[in-house]
Amino acid sequence: MPSATSSLRQAIQAAGGSLPFSQFMSLALYGDGGFYSSSGRAGRRGDFITSPEVGPLFGAVLARAVDDVWIRCGRPDNFSIVEVGAGPGTLARTIVAAAPECLEKGTYIAVEVSDTQRELHPDSVVSVSTMPTHITNGIIIANELFDNMPFDLWVYDDGWRQSHIIDTPQGFAEVLKTADVPPCLPSRVSHGSRAPVHTDAVNWLHTALSSLAHGALMAIDYCTPTTAEVASMPWREWLRTYAQHERGVHYLKNAGEQDITTQVCIDQLAAVREPDAVRSQSQFLQLWGIDELVEEGRREWEKAASSPTVAAIKMRSRVTEAEALLDMTGLGNFTVVQWSNY
Ligand SMILES: C[S@@+](CC[C@H](N)C(=O)[O-])C[C@H]1O[C@@H](n2cnc3c(N)ncnc32)[C@H](O)[C@@H]1O
Repeated sequence: MPSATSSLRQAIQAAGGSLPFSQFMSLALYGDGGFYSSSGRAGRRGDFITSPEVGPLFGAVLARAVDDVWIRCGRPDNFSIVEVGAGPGTLARTIVAAAPECLEKGTYIAVEVSDTQRELHPDSVVSVSTMPTHITNGIIIANELFDNMPFDLWVYDDGWRQSHIIDTPQGFAEVLKTADVPPCLPSRVSHGSRAPVHTDAVNWLHTALSSLAHGALMAIDYCTPTTAEVASMPWREWLRTYAQHERGVHYLKNAGEQDITTQVCIDQLAAVREPDAVRSQSQFLQLWGIDELVEEGRREWEKAASSPTVAAIKMRSRVTEAEALLDMTGLGNFTVVQWSNY
């Protein structure tokens, strides 16, 4: 497989000398030799830790929220859990292990673009590379999907300009081009401000909501309420790169060897359709009974403490998992954005 750098060079040349940042990001992550097309992934042995990778508690709580959607749909037999951006399948494994009632007759569909990650999916799920086009009854779950979807990058330099990437002997570099300014960009910002325009995430959300006849869509991510707030942040705080559990280098360097992610602007998602609920991950997990599951874990551990079993040790680990999942300086401060079609 060619390297991401050589694929990008060819694509830039084929496009006449420059690519919008979104296309650069798309190839750097998902093209030949791209980060997710090769070995990049979530997990302790991967590049970053997400909530499902903390342990099975996150999936156990989500299973309760999923069953609530199934009940609101009238307990249908043909219910689907459609998890998009399923990574190596960790959330799928833990939701299936929690045995929500909706899966007694329903189906878990794990959607993941990366071939290498789909190979890691468990046999208990239907593993596919693209979303189903129609879901009669179901829930669409997207944990840390939007932040990884290619976005356009805009820079305020005597007006908003769009970032395009060129190939130079010193490496990839940025040039700014005039284009129609997307309405989500704020008009009053300081010189040098940068902001993401979530072109792909917005298109995906539109399609996903149209494909869902009955049910809900839950997106969980690192979010900021408005694009204006993101534009006022130092760009290195919202446009981040990661590799092997460390922050990476500049987003134009080491193409294919590091993840590129953005803070997600809720106002851009709300322009597709106003969400029905926006909560912090901490509020969401409490709503769906994380405290009860932790208490159950504590009790089971105490019962078995004199001769611990693997099952009892797993129960005890719920205490530390909950601390990480609810931590308001980290995962607990993520946002759960929900749209309902009932
Ligand atoms: C940050 S990882 C999150 C993985 C997993 N959801 C988790 O929380 O551990 C984002 C994943 O979304 C996948 N992805 C990105 N765009 C996608 C799309 N349009 N359809 C399916 N998967 C996608 C990437 O390949 C990557 O595995």
